[in-house]
Amino acid sequence: MKFSTFYFSGTGNTEWAVQQFHEILLDNGQESEVYAIENIDLQNMSVLTGIVNNSDFVGFAHPIYGGNIPPIVKSFLENLMREYKDKQNFQKPVYIINTFGYVNGFGPFCARKLFQHTVFTVVSYVNIQLCNNISTPKLKINRLSPDKLNRRKEKAKAELRKAAEKLLAQKRYITGIGPYLLPNIIVRKKSKKGIAENYKIFSVDSATCKKCMLCVNKCPTKSIVYSNGTFSFLPTCTACMRCYNNCPASSILFNGQYADPAIYERYHGPF
Ligand SMILES: Cc1cc2nc3c(=O)[nH]c(=O)nc-3n(C[C@H](O)[C@H](O)[C@H](O)COP(=O)(O)O)c2cc1C
Ligand code: SF4
Ligand code: SF4
Repeated sequence: MKFSTFYFSGTGNTEWAVQQFHEILLDNGQESEVYAIENIDLQNMSVLTGIVNNSDFVGFAHPIYGGNIPPIVKSFLENLMREYKDKQNFQKPVYIINTFGYVNGFGPFCARKLFQHTVFTVVSYVNIQLCNNISTPKLKINRLSPDKLNRRKEKAKAELRKAAEKLLAQKRYITGIGPYLLPNIIVRKKSKKGIAENYKIFSVDSATCKKCMLCVNKCPTKSIVYSNGTFSFLPTCTACMRCYNNCPASSILFNGQYADPAIYERYHGPF
């Protein structure tokens, strides 16, 4: 069987989970391809639909932002669904993998709502707890110890193996629904506007910036513009924190404040 997984990963956690799933499928003798949505030319819809049409299962993987789907993933899915809107007699089973730090969000509900009345049927939904990727003076979140992260990675692999087994046995496997979702009601309400307006909070400290352009080149949505010696952030920013976490000079300011990396540790991914 052929599996195609489309993913978005700001700082590497989701990419890691997708890679594990891909290896599990290959070990089971299946065909598997993975595609980072930031590298897909959405203007060239025929490439995307070609991949979807030629797959037995299609997967979408993303981090949870504020108990929700990141804006870049939401618009990717909406574009894809628009393309398949009038395709009668077409059905495609879908699996979803999300990663999160503390609370997994309303992922299964969001997915159900998003895919309802479409040609896509969600048959598997897995929640992978890894770690948080934000540590700023506005929101200080301590890193996990390497031991704890490793334990979570082992648990994640077991969960992904189970999801693959169920898919191969054509069995439905939806996880992540339970009373622990309740704190998400507060998280979602508070963070929706924050995530949409994150770009307004970023700026660059020109005194320390090395002008290496890593942030400009690595931004998945091309939302950082360097012009006439100054940086600006565009509303297309998807709040992934990749620029903030990877700036070699810690020059990206959040809310105008310098964040000492010794206190606000940057996250460089699980690989
Ligand atoms: C803007 C933003 C919002 C987030 N919101 C949540 C959240 O509501 N719940 C949670 O558990 N983790 C949250 N996280 C943490 C990420 O979901 C987690 O670190 C994820 O694994 C990152 O995946 P990535 O490395 O593939 O980007 C958030 C991260 C960002 C950048
Ligand atoms: S990554 Fe940091 S140092 Fe490099 S250009 Fe961007 S802000 Fe400046
Ligand atoms: S500006 Fe930074 S946070 Fe926003 S999408 Fe680009 S890399 Fe991610």
